[in-house]
Amino acid sequence: MTTAIAHPNIALVKYWGKVPGADNIPASPSLSITLDTLRTHTRIETSNEDLVIINGKPVDDPKISKFLMRLRQVHTIPPLTIDTDNNFPTGAGLASSASGFAALITAINSHCQLGLSHEDCSTWARRGSGSAARSLCGGFSTLTEPLWHAQTLLDPGMWPLHVVIAITDTSVKSVSSTAGMERSRLTSPFYDAWLASTRIAYERARTAVLARDFNGLATIAEASALNMHAVMLSSQPPLMYWNSGTMAAIQRITGLREQGLAVFFTIDAGPQIKAVCLPEASVTVERALRETPGILGVTTAGLGQAARVIHA
Ligand code: PMV
Repeated sequence: MTTAIAHPNIALVKYWGKVPGADNIPASPSLSITLDTLRTHTRIETSNEDLVIINGKPVDDPKISKFLMRLRQVHTIPPLTIDTDNNFPTGAGLASSASGFAALITAINSHCQLGLSHEDCSTWARRGSGSAARSLCGGFSTLTEPLWHAQTLLDPGMWPLHVVIAITDTSVKSVSSTAGMERSRLTSPFYDAWLASTRIAYERARTAVLARDFNGLATIAEASALNMHAVMLSSQPPLMYWNSGTMAAIQRITGLREQGLAVFFTIDAGPQIKAVCLPEASVTVERALRETPGILGVTTAGLGQAARVIHA
């Protein structure tokens, strides 16, 4: 039995849209942070037939089946029992597919002795879920052309930000990221402008991270999240991932920043809010979000390590 662990990552420069017909290649670069306290744990065992168990329940997961089929076209892999669990809500905009595919390829690579490099694992994780490529790296990571495997920009200890995650709804999202991105590509009048602005945001965010420029990064990251949601909202039919708790949290975080606190927000394809802050601000941010209407729960993470095997 082989066990691997991987953490979700949160993009500060988002990707939303894929190159049509390509190998699950994002249409624009992205930059993210990997979290520490949230994690996916995946145990792999050779068995008589494939069995996938997520959070204790046997499931038929088309994304995992497709991923295994692709992997088996290139590598010899026996039938496997894949037993995976998340210590956070699954499929609710908290990047469970990112940590999920990162843990899965890490575990399979070790268990089946595929001999894949770190870059190869990131590429395979990307084929499972675009953002999963980045969970192969810890700290700050980038995913960009031409190779489209993630690269570490800064290790976690080099700029130890905190992320306060405010949960506003734990249900599984109604439109998956893949379906939503395709809808935006085909119908949003802002799609091309989004891709062009993201390329600029990516370069600026990289520079801000390397300079540890919190305020610079805050402006770029909030604009990236809001621009992505503008594309979602302008798709047909519209993709509305927010609820009233999301909006209340945005206003709370904006207010805190106006008072001089080092914090900014980001939001993915779901209603949860992630407040990224300097470590000394996280207690105040956590308290403020706990008191915000519509917030069901709050948890704080630091920056985490890359996906890894913990038992082989
Ligand atoms: O990993 P995917 O392909 O489901 O896409 C995730 C997209 C966002 O989380 C909304 C943004 C990002 O860059 O992580």
